[in-house]
Amino acid sequence: MDKFVVRGGNPLLGTVRISGAKNAALPAMAAALLTDEPVVLENVPEVRDIQTMRRLLVEMGAEVELRHDRTHHRTTIQCCEPIRAEAPYELVKTMRASTLVLGPLVARTGCARVSLPGGCAIGARPIDLHIKALQKLGASVSQEHGYVEARAEQLRSAHIVWDRITVTGTEEVMMAATLADGETVMENCAREPEVADLAELLISMGAQIQGAGTATIRVRGVPRLHGARHRIIPDRISTGTFVIAGAMTGGDLTVENCRPRHLGALLEKLAECGAVLHVEDESIRVVGDGRLLAADVNTEEYPGFPTDMQAQYMALATQAAGTSMITENIFENRFLHALELMRMGASIKLEGRRAVVHGKTQLSGAAVLASDLRASASLVLAALVADGETIIDRVYHIDRGYERIEEKLRSVGAQVIRVGEMLPKRAALAPAQ
Ligand code: EPZ
Repeated sequence: MDKFVVRGGNPLLGTVRISGAKNAALPAMAAALLTDEPVVLENVPEVRDIQTMRRLLVEMGAEVELRHDRTHHRTTIQCCEPIRAEAPYELVKTMRASTLVLGPLVARTGCARVSLPGGCAIGARPIDLHIKALQKLGASVSQEHGYVEARAEQLRSAHIVWDRITVTGTEEVMMAATLADGETVMENCAREPEVADLAELLISMGAQIQGAGTATIRVRGVPRLHGARHRIIPDRISTGTFVIAGAMTGGDLTVENCRPRHLGALLEKLAECGAVLHVEDESIRVVGDGRLLAADVNTEEYPGFPTDMQAQYMALATQAAGTSMITENIFENRFLHALELMRMGASIKLEGRRAVVHGKTQLSGAAVLASDLRASASLVLAALVADGETIIDRVYHIDRGYERIEEKLRSVGAQVIRVGEMLPKRAALAPAQ
């Protein structure tokens, strides 16, 4: 298993380019199941979860061309009949977002058999609300042997009020409703930019959707959808991660090819912490000496402070003068990174869904373990400012959602190598000053 070896202390200088959003590309790939014509997606990130979704679609009989090279980040997907409408446990257990195929499969083929995702490091994460909504669209749903089986000759429209805001729930049912009979109205929907990006793709495939990106979405069903070409939005969580890296390490870092307007809550919070940000339409420049002030954070659904930035923000809070109170309102078990940050010398007190972080503390390099995607990003950020060398184990977590993060960080002066990777001599870590 690959590890990262990071030597801290270097200010980041230069420009990093943001890749496409994993959480927009995954539902977009599932949406290709809704038509037998080719769907071409541009700006698809080269990350492991995209490979998993490709394998899942191929398992179902789809043709998937994934092209990642200097000039292309493109995937072309065509799902002709017959479709094997099954998502096996082996794949779903590695990526819960695989359940996004449930709605499109029922809508397109009238049946689907999808493994239940099971538990996850950050919380129970059931899909009960997804199932309830599909039942409202007229699907008969049963659960057996760890699988959900859904059937419907023809989905019909419904009025759905989500008990709780769910991102992939909103996405999945929005996709299913595009081929249902009549107009479906969904209320209390997720407003994440990834939901609006998916709707943009579906509309270019011929779907009739209004209100995506707001709490109320209307979908008028159509008999069939056609192929389309769509560019995936930049990854706002990856953007936020690099902006925090710039703020923590000092120096002068520009994060380009991003959408700052998707990160309002985070940028406001960083300004409150005293980070110096120059925000343009598609780039953010962070200039500073790493001096930061403590500020409290509550994670919320969009447009509130994203839970996917909570771990990275905690790393920053260890370097901020004062006490930061971090409250995690979305997932019940999303503080695993705190224990590893404490191994590096951070002063953090955990009280249920609240973490109290005292700063500024000098972190020291240590051997630490990544537990999930965003936790691993938090450990990389802490290692960039720690004294000495940090060894981060299980970085396969970070590969799920960050494209070549160690190369991007190295390109702006960080000392990060992937062990397990045969490195050309010149890229080895420079001797400590
Ligand atoms: C999406 O997950 C993202 N994943 C997550 O990003 C992100 O953390 C999350 O939204 C919240 O923003 C993708 O888009 C692929 P939810 P999702 O349904 O849709 C509960 C990352 O790091 N709930 O909005 O699975 C649930 O347990 C990942 O990239 C139910 O109880 O999250 C949670 O507490 C991690 N029943 C809350 O709602 C349901 O049927 C919100 O979850 C559905 C959800």
